[in-house]
Amino acid sequence: NGWQATVLTIYPGMFPGPLGHALAGRALEAGRWRLDVIDIRAFATDRHRSVDDTPAGGGPGMVMKPDVVAAAIDAAAAGGIDRPRLLLTPRGRPLTQARVRELVEGPGAVLVCGRFEGVDERVVEARALEEVSIGDFVLSGGEIAAMVLLDACVRLLPGVMGAQASGSEESFENGLLEYPHYTRPQVWEGRPIPEVLVSGDHGRIARWRRAEAERITRERRPDLWAARAGGRIDNSQGFK
Ligand code: ADE
Repeated sequence: NGWQATVLTIYPGMFPGPLGHALAGRALEAGRWRLDVIDIRAFATDRHRSVDDTPAGGGPGMVMKPDVVAAAIDAAAAGGIDRPRLLLTPRGRPLTQARVRELVEGPGAVLVCGRFEGVDERVVEARALEEVSIGDFVLSGGEIAAMVLLDACVRLLPGVMGAQASGSEESFENGLLEYPHYTRPQVWEGRPIPEVLVSGDHGRIARWRRAEAERITRERRPDLWAARAGGRIDNSQGFK
C-alpha cells in the first residue's frame, strides 16, 4: 500500500525534516507514500555502539562498518517486497530524472545514508548497493541527498501533483531547461512582460517558449544540449 521509502541513517532525527512539509508532507499524511527511518546505530554490536572504524591501510577519517550497515539493510528488507537499495555518496552515478521516474514506477526504495569517509566496500558489493550522487559537490553526509532524491520521487507519485501539469513540459522531461515565466503586474520596475505573452496568439507563444528554452539550454547546459543533438541520432533518452 503506497510507495515505501526506508532510510538508514545514524541521524534518524533529521527525518522527515523538510519532507514533512509542503507537497511531500501532505502526500505523506495522505498515505500516498510511507517513510520508515532506521537508526543504523541500533545494529551496533559492541558496548560503545560503534558504527565506524579506522580505514584499513591508514589515512584520515572513519569508515562505516560493513557488519553494522548490513544488519540495518537486512532489517529494512525483512519481510517486505524487494526494493532497490541505494547508497547516497558523491562517488555514485549522477541521479537523473530518468532514474527518478524508474524508482517511482517501482515499490519504493531503501536509502543508505553514508557518513564519514564512506562505507566499507564489501557491504556495497554484498548487498548490491547502487551508489548514487545528487551532484558534483560534497555534502557532510547522505541524509540531505536522500531527502533530495525522495522529494524528486514523491512529487511524481500518482495524485501528488494534483492540478499541476505532471512534468511533460518541465526541465529534463524534454531534455530542455524551462522557458522563463512572468505574471502580473504587466510592467514592474519599468520592465514589461514580453509582448508575445500578452498577444493571445497561442501558436506564437508556444514557439517563443520553445526558442527561449533552447537558447537557455544552449547557454547554461551545453552538456544537455549536446545530448539532445546526439539524441536526434540515437534518441536513447526518448526526448520530444
Ligand atoms: N553525500 C555527500 N555528498 C553527496 C552527494 N553529492 N550526493 C549524494 N550523497 C552525498
